[in-house]
Amino acid sequence: MALTEVAPIVTARLRHPDSHTLERYLATGGYDGLRRALRMEPEQVAEEVNAASLLGRGGAGFPAGRKWSMLRKAPVRYLVVNGDESEPATFKDHLLIERDPHAIIEGTLIAAYANQVTQAFIFVRGEFALGLERMQGALNEAYAHGAVGRDIFGSGFSVDVVLHPGAGAYIAGEETGLLESLEGKRAFPRIKPPYFPAAIGLYGEPTVVNNTETMANLPWIVQHGGHAFAALGQGSSTGTRLFALSGHVRRPGNYELEMAKTTFRDLIFAPVLGGGVRGGRQLKAFIPGGVSAPWFGPDQIDLPLSQDEVGKAGSMLGSGSVVVMDDQTCVVRAAWRIVRFFYRESCGQCTPCREGAGWIEKVVRRIEEGSGREQDLDLLLDVCDNISPGLSWPPQQTTICVLGPSIPSSIVWAIRMFRDEFLVHIKEGACPYG
Ligand SMILES: Cc1cc2nc3c(=O)[nH]c(=O)nc-3n(C[C@H](O)[C@H](O)[C@H](O)COP(=O)(O)O)c2cc1C
Ligand code: SF4
Repeated sequence: MALTEVAPIVTARLRHPDSHTLERYLATGGYDGLRRALRMEPEQVAEEVNAASLLGRGGAGFPAGRKWSMLRKAPVRYLVVNGDESEPATFKDHLLIERDPHAIIEGTLIAAYANQVTQAFIFVRGEFALGLERMQGALNEAYAHGAVGRDIFGSGFSVDVVLHPGAGAYIAGEETGLLESLEGKRAFPRIKPPYFPAAIGLYGEPTVVNNTETMANLPWIVQHGGHAFAALGQGSSTGTRLFALSGHVRRPGNYELEMAKTTFRDLIFAPVLGGGVRGGRQLKAFIPGGVSAPWFGPDQIDLPLSQDEVGKAGSMLGSGSVVVMDDQTCVVRAAWRIVRFFYRESCGQCTPCREGAGWIEKVVRRIEEGSGREQDLDLLLDVCDNISPGLSWPPQQTTICVLGPSIPSSIVWAIRMFRDEFLVHIKEGACPYG
């Protein structure tokens, strides 16, 4: 599959060093999408987003237009933009928050208008010091410009947007944990049902939660039309998407690519993208969609960056992060580091997640350190099966949120793909990679 040369949508402005300022934003068509939206009926704006088939960019890939349609008849509603982005190897929202905060604000305003929301929140990870500073600066500029607040651009539509710093926990990115955090509580995810945000969200009212990149696409969709967006990509994977490429590649970074028309091979090996595996080594494995996703091997390198195709192949595009492992990678150590993250970030409400992550972390650590036993592999799979029965994909869930079933992914696939390597650790009593 050839690499397509589609003009970028969410990173178009980033070649300018001052891309975060209002001056540059206005000079590059900024807030024109909002002005256009305000001349349309709210339902027409929502219809354009529906026609775009824009899949949410936060991980689950739910169509934004369909999510909004659940809310339209509610009398009070909120819009919350999720910029918590705390997953290891995921760094695409960070880029947009720091480098194009006005695009996120404009998208937020378009979504607020389409859903007739009068109070919106932008929730940005607390550790993003520069991002928070830039987002607050941009919000202040947007208020002064008349793009936010009362009677926006003389349209009669009013909405306030509040920036809220995150609470320093990965789980605050889970949408109901985020709502708890916004309400000033610990970010404990809520049980769904009944607490689906669209039904019982912020302060008990219907709420839309959308990812920052989802928002950043909206000005373009309103300007060019939903069908123009849907003409990019293929099947349900429309438009372009930001992929955060990391690990053992020559050129790690964020790449905006046309969905479904570009393959993992393109992303990892094209000289203008990843540039190939670092040091000319061989590809051993890659994670196609964030650390919650099942791993792929070199055999899957020609899969397109398509939500459907990756799903059919047994994994997900998830948060848009692709992690490359070369042939010198210790997969036991890689899987251990991922499960250690989940163990530390588990909020502790559900036994399978809290206890399971702890036990898996201990057992994988002892294998990596050379004191593992052969029966540990079955033990690990058994604990994983207790967290997510059947160890299938998509996973079964026994917990309040999907952090639980995310825990087994790396462990199960590392064992399935590299059982021999686990056994070498056990038999030799040491990590062969040192
Ligand atoms: C543990 C966990 C962490 C999450 N972190 C984020 C995050 O940082 N940003 C995000 O947009 N979505 C995150 N999500 C997904 C959100 O719950 C939600 O699906 C998303 O914000 C909806 O936006 P979208 O429909 O535009 O994709 C997370 C989910 C889980 C289970
Ligand atoms: S699955 Fe884990 S992180 Fe999610 S609510 Fe349960 S204990 Fe908390």
